[in-house]
Amino acid sequence: MYTEVGFYEPDSWKAAPATVDEHSLKILGHPVMEDWERPYMQELARIATLNGGRVLEIGFGMGISAGFISRFYDQRGIGRGVTEHVIVEANRDVAALARKFRDEHRPGLVRIVEGVSYDVIAENADGVFRDGGFDGILHDAYPLDESQVQNQAHFAGTAYRLLKPGGIFTYFSDEPTQFRPEHLQMLLDAGFARKNIDHKIIRVVPPADCLYWKRDTILAPILRKG
Ligand SMILES: C[S@@+](CC[C@H](N)C(=O)[O-])C[C@H]1O[C@@H](n2cnc3c(N)ncnc32)[C@H](O)[C@@H]1O
Repeated sequence: MYTEVGFYEPDSWKAAPATVDEHSLKILGHPVMEDWERPYMQELARIATLNGGRVLEIGFGMGISAGFISRFYDQRGIGRGVTEHVIVEANRDVAALARKFRDEHRPGLVRIVEGVSYDVIAENADGVFRDGGFDGILHDAYPLDESQVQNQAHFAGTAYRLLKPGGIFTYFSDEPTQFRPEHLQMLLDAGFARKNIDHKIIRVVPPADCLYWKRDTILAPILRKG
């Protein structure tokens, strides 16, 4: 039964059965993703694809943001289209869904990397996660260790390193309207200059029984590497 946000046993998480229906994704009873987030995911996908090129997405979930990112595949050659969509997914069942998504969309353009983000990035097989290798990054994982619970800004240092100059990072912010001072400080410490930290506020309608979001807005971060 879900009691609090976060699950600190990545190995159990990887092998756990995922339950997906039209409206939600649950793993080990945790409410990992719900479809009321759709407008927010649309905005995160829009931000992550602003530069086109190579886009990294951490966490496939229900594939909602991946679906929005895929809308930018076909702009290749006529603007700033996405040329590679790398999706990292830790859970085995969800990774299988991600592979199905890849096969139904553009197999040559979507790369699924199954594993926990910090492991696969450190491993850097085939140079996929080389420094300065991405034009955009969308991070929407689920806390698999204690340091990740507050918000997903903990990934900012890694994102900064993986981005090209001018590259854009966005993530599930866990903030309704503004960056808390300690959150902002994490972004500054990661290397993002204050003038390159922006955001948009997105209106959402979570159902009354949603366990992880009670507000009617969520902040969408827009961070650019200088
Ligand atoms: C909130 S869902 C992602 C939702 C997705 N953006 C969408 O639009 O449907 C989080 C996903 O990230 C995966 N995940 C959690 N922590 C991860 C990590 N450290 N590395 C890779 N995947 C992770 C979970 O298994 C889950 O499928």
